[in-house]
Amino acid sequence: MSVHSPKIVRTSTLLEFKQQGRKIACLTSYDSMTAGIFDRAGIDVILVGDSAANTVLGYRSTLPITLEEMIPFGRAVSAASERALVVIDLPFGSYETGPADALTNSIQVMKRTNASAVKLEGGVRSVEQIRAIVEAGIPVMGHIGFTPQSVNALGGFKVQGRGEGADQLIADALAVEAAGAFAVVLEMVPAELANEVTKRLSIPTIGIGAGAGTDGQILVWQDFAGLHTGKTAKFVKQYAQLGQVLEQATSEYLKDVQAGEFPAKEHEFDA
Ligand code: KIV
Repeated sequence: MSVHSPKIVRTSTLLEFKQQGRKIACLTSYDSMTAGIFDRAGIDVILVGDSAANTVLGYRSTLPITLEEMIPFGRAVSAASERALVVIDLPFGSYETGPADALTNSIQVMKRTNASAVKLEGGVRSVEQIRAIVEAGIPVMGHIGFTPQSVNALGGFKVQGRGEGADQLIADALAVEAAGAFAVVLEMVPAELANEVTKRLSIPTIGIGAGAGTDGQILVWQDFAGLHTGKTAKFVKQYAQLGQVLEQATSEYLKDVQAGEFPAKEHEFDA
């Protein structure tokens, strides 16, 4: 199959990719430098995830991050992305209170970040919000399965859709599609179920811990690049060991500074 690579990725492009069987590659980013790298490398969708709460701001969950904290990340990523579709997460508290708040906050995100779409969590429970945002002309990506903003209600980081949960997951997926979402993230869902959902939906499914049968994949960039050296989730593949590289570089810098070997002559300015 030839891989078709459009100049600009739009929501309609993702639908074409699904129809062509061309897999969709997505990563998160929260800053202009990594967004520029991922964009130039050909990543289709860059998600300014509320995972910034953990990866950038050091919070223990995604719950504390606010809309005001998300906006500068979104603006930086949008400014650096020429080809990729930039999607911004609506943080916890910005849409659960109802469709009117969801729309007001989505408009804020779109006006202030120049992104192309928003993402929000929840299936059946979020359909009114999705519908209101989509009707206002803002594309929405859904997110079902394990939804990190509900970590407390879900009793921790648990695979969703096992056993009797499968029917709920399918109902959530169908509801998100019917409400007008252009794609849906399936997080921590058994591979076989994710495969079935992918076949039943006409919009693309983007998996994270959902096996190889989804239309696309997404990873948090610090996970994929091995920025942290501790234990990673089962679904993460580290494509680099940036954490080790940085640690090594830091030790060398420290040694050079302490030994008076940095800066050297070539780093100095003439009079
Ligand atoms: O916030 C995030 O990074 C996400 C992805 C893991 C899908 O929602």
